[in-house]
Amino acid sequence: MPPPPRRPFHNPRQPGPQAAGKSPQGKPVPLAERGWDPVAAWYDKLVGESGSDYHRQVILPATLRMLDPQPGESIIDVCCGQGVLLKPLLDAGVGKVTGIDASPRLIAAARARHGTERRVALITADVCAPGRWADGSHDAATCVMAVHDVVDPVALFANMARALKPGGRAVLVMMHPCFRIPRQSHWGWDAEQKIQYRRLDAYGSPRDIPITTHPGKGSGEQTTFHHRPLAELLTAIGTGGLAVTACEELYSHRRSQVGPFSKAEHRAAQEFPLFLALTARRM
Ligand SMILES: C[S@@+](CC[C@H](N)C(=O)[O-])C[C@H]1O[C@@H](n2cnc3c(N)ncnc32)[C@H](O)[C@@H]1O
Repeated sequence: MPPPPRRPFHNPRQPGPQAAGKSPQGKPVPLAERGWDPVAAWYDKLVGESGSDYHRQVILPATLRMLDPQPGESIIDVCCGQGVLLKPLLDAGVGKVTGIDASPRLIAAARARHGTERRVALITADVCAPGRWADGSHDAATCVMAVHDVVDPVALFANMARALKPGGRAVLVMMHPCFRIPRQSHWGWDAEQKIQYRRLDAYGSPRDIPITTHPGKGSGEQTTFHHRPLAELLTAIGTGGLAVTACEELYSHRRSQVGPFSKAEHRAAQEFPLFLALTARRM
């Protein structure tokens, strides 16, 4: 029997009009007016000085373990947001940290916290576009909880690779593309077997998913989550010029109160990872 046809590779360079930065009328909208800038105050408050509880308990420890920053190194944090990773990197003794993000307000929040530190440089820029920051001078690069927020992942990874010295390393931490797909993945309860299961309504098609940032407040502020199946994500990393060297799947630290469902919830938290973390090297 002939093998089934290969799934066509979705070209992430052709996003839908909203994700591509066009108004519904097709007019270009500057990057600062879309994406995360309109929700910057909310995000800064949510993350705060030291991160959300997922940052503190799961994401930042994994990022630092996989990055293994060395004293004196030059590190670039791509899509740095309000700079939650900067302090841990400074505390690790790195020589220079560059944070880069498209949101002027989030860069301003990072500057308010770390702008006087001589080892910190902060840049407002679109990481999918060519820039002087992608200059081959960095020992390592990070991209934390942002791969799914970027319209063009091939351009993101290509610019991260260009920012690195040859052989330089990268750490990518993101929502797990197989288990955490907004609006498409849910918890369910099987009363007969008494198990909490993970239900996936869709996975294999790339999709742009609007996320309402303050549900219930009626402000209508949204960001866009770009879901990509795992094969597409890994192919984009390689196409961008990074070779994956290690992978960790990160699980929730949260545990429910003792009750009728707690055993099943505990098991589910240990079986279904929340985040995918990869290390890679510039090829
Ligand atoms: C969920 S936030 C994560 C921020 C930070 N790394 C953290 O862990 O708190 C996603 C970030 O990606 C940034 N971003 C999305 N697309 C971008 C682009 N094309 N260029 C630069 N930054 C971008 C947003 O501005 C936002 O700050």
